[in-house]
Amino acid sequence: MSPQDLAKRQAAEAALAYIEPGEVLGVGTGSTVNHFIDLIAEKRLVADIKGAVSSSNASSERLKQIGVPVLDLNQTGELSIYVDGADEANPALQLIKGGGAALTREKIVAAASRKFVCIADRSKQVDVLGKFPLPVEVIPMAQSYVGRELFKLGGKPKLRDGVITDNGNVIIDLHGVAITDPLALETTINQITGVVCVGLFARRPADVLIVGSTDGIQTIT
Ligand code: 5RP
Repeated sequence: MSPQDLAKRQAAEAALAYIEPGEVLGVGTGSTVNHFIDLIAEKRLVADIKGAVSSSNASSERLKQIGVPVLDLNQTGELSIYVDGADEANPALQLIKGGGAALTREKIVAAASRKFVCIADRSKQVDVLGKFPLPVEVIPMAQSYVGRELFKLGGKPKLRDGVITDNGNVIIDLHGVAITDPLALETTINQITGVVCVGLFARRPADVLIVGSTDGIQTIT
């Protein structure tokens, strides 16, 4: 396992402590979350979990494989805990997410959860968000229009080739914007017609960030 992968696994292992027995768990998407799901099985915690609401078809499959029932958010009501990774996190625990194209369902599950526990390796920590291209999920027929509107914001929009989201939409990644006001940019992009969701988690940041590294675990609240 590479040092980065080990750091992801450490962060994922620390997040196991947030699982509330008998509760429905929110589960995100990505390689760090894959460690979290694998660890639920390895540490024999499956029986503690009533079920999970997942942010992607990929995570749903992985959860089912270890025996965790995957539930519909419309049937569960509010979730106590949501565990997910991030592409970048700033000191206010605002995030860029969507590197795995699951941003819309991730934002929905995060919004419906009382506590969002973000798990990441140290490379994801930044002072200012935006080095990682900002993912925007877009209705396919609006792709060109939204691209032109994003261009006006000062960055370089690029269609993510060959990617269709679980919701049947496309992803435009906005490159080269230093996000000094995440709340304002989230609002601006949300208001572009044809945008389904922007992968900026500023209105609903993480509540806890668990950072894994070769030096150990750091928990930031
Ligand atoms: C998926 C995401 C992931 O949380 C993000 O891309 C981090 O992934 P990884 O854990 O593989 O580094 O937002 O849409």
